[in-house]
Amino acid sequence: MTETDFLPSDYINDVKEGSVSYKSPSNIALVKYWGKKENQLPQNPSISFTLDACATTTKVTFNKLEKLDENFSFDLWFEGKEKEDFKPKINTFLSRIEIYIPFLKSYHFKIETSNSFPHSSGIASSASGMSALALCFMDIEKQLNPEITADFFNKKASFLARLGSGSACRSIEGDLIQWGAHEQTEGSSDLFGIKYPYEVHENFKNFQDTILLVDKGQKQVSSTVGHNLMHNHPFAAERFNQAHTNLNKLKSVFKSGDLIEFIKIVESEALTLHAMMMTSMPYFILMKPNTLEIINKIWEFREKSNSHICFTLDAGANVHVLYSENEKAIVNQFIKDELVVFCENQQYICDQIGFGAKKL
Ligand code: PMV
Repeated sequence: MTETDFLPSDYINDVKEGSVSYKSPSNIALVKYWGKKENQLPQNPSISFTLDACATTTKVTFNKLEKLDENFSFDLWFEGKEKEDFKPKINTFLSRIEIYIPFLKSYHFKIETSNSFPHSSGIASSASGMSALALCFMDIEKQLNPEITADFFNKKASFLARLGSGSACRSIEGDLIQWGAHEQTEGSSDLFGIKYPYEVHENFKNFQDTILLVDKGQKQVSSTVGHNLMHNHPFAAERFNQAHTNLNKLKSVFKSGDLIEFIKIVESEALTLHAMMMTSMPYFILMKPNTLEIINKIWEFREKSNSHICFTLDAGANVHVLYSENEKAIVNQFIKDELVVFCENQQYICDQIGFGAKKL
């Protein structure tokens, strides 16, 4: 498929008003997306577990305007309060997706959004937030053109979400989503995320993700800036190749259920992501001392318990602790006994693999 496949055909219905709500989850990448081209296209393919508990709920109420507006007309409410400072980001998103959903200037929208995770927990809400909003707009498009198929609906929702925040395109469905053209993955595309199309071993069903909130503050360097620093990065080409190789390796790991190999790939990806940050120019560090304390504790515990606990990181200091469901009891005990002390206000979130967004 190409971008032009997402331009709409004529709308059949005239809809004056309505409202639509979606709950969309966050996701955690196993092979990381870091570095992008024009139009939010990734420099390398990535794959993620869709999460379940960490989610954004968005309601869009729409009313047809008397005449087309020159600008986007919308109000934005976040957790029950009007939020002017979020509006520029939404405005940019709307201007990027307008050519694909041209009804945007025909309506006034009230966008009401809230997150399931604590406010300013340092958890990026862009994946869940942008995917929830993209789904609401797709639902309106489906009201205007009921002929849209379920498959096209999900692809276009992912395509639109990507234009809001790259990783958001991996939050529409679950439980394992790949995004970015990868030669060995049939149907993979830079334009949208797809459900991982090959066999996945029982070991990965109901995988758990406990998110340790190490630093709840604002990040010093945004993902946008970080992605851009991959242009002219001395190790960029090698890193992008490595992501392809790691996806190949994961394919056999998912099939065989080899957790030892899984750990090697996932932890190496997390540390490589942060190594790219540390070797950018300008360089920066998003990990905190407690991030490293936790990593070392996980390695120690894995060694002595023979468990298959491992970690990954997103673009911040928080640590995602990954483990299979049958290790839940021992890992939860270990987290309480040894890791919680490294969390800000002892806060952490218990999450697990999820199956994608839901219409409410
Ligand atoms: O979607 P963005 O632009 O916020 O980038 C996300 C980048 C990482 O979370 C670090 C990696 C990933 O693949 O999700």
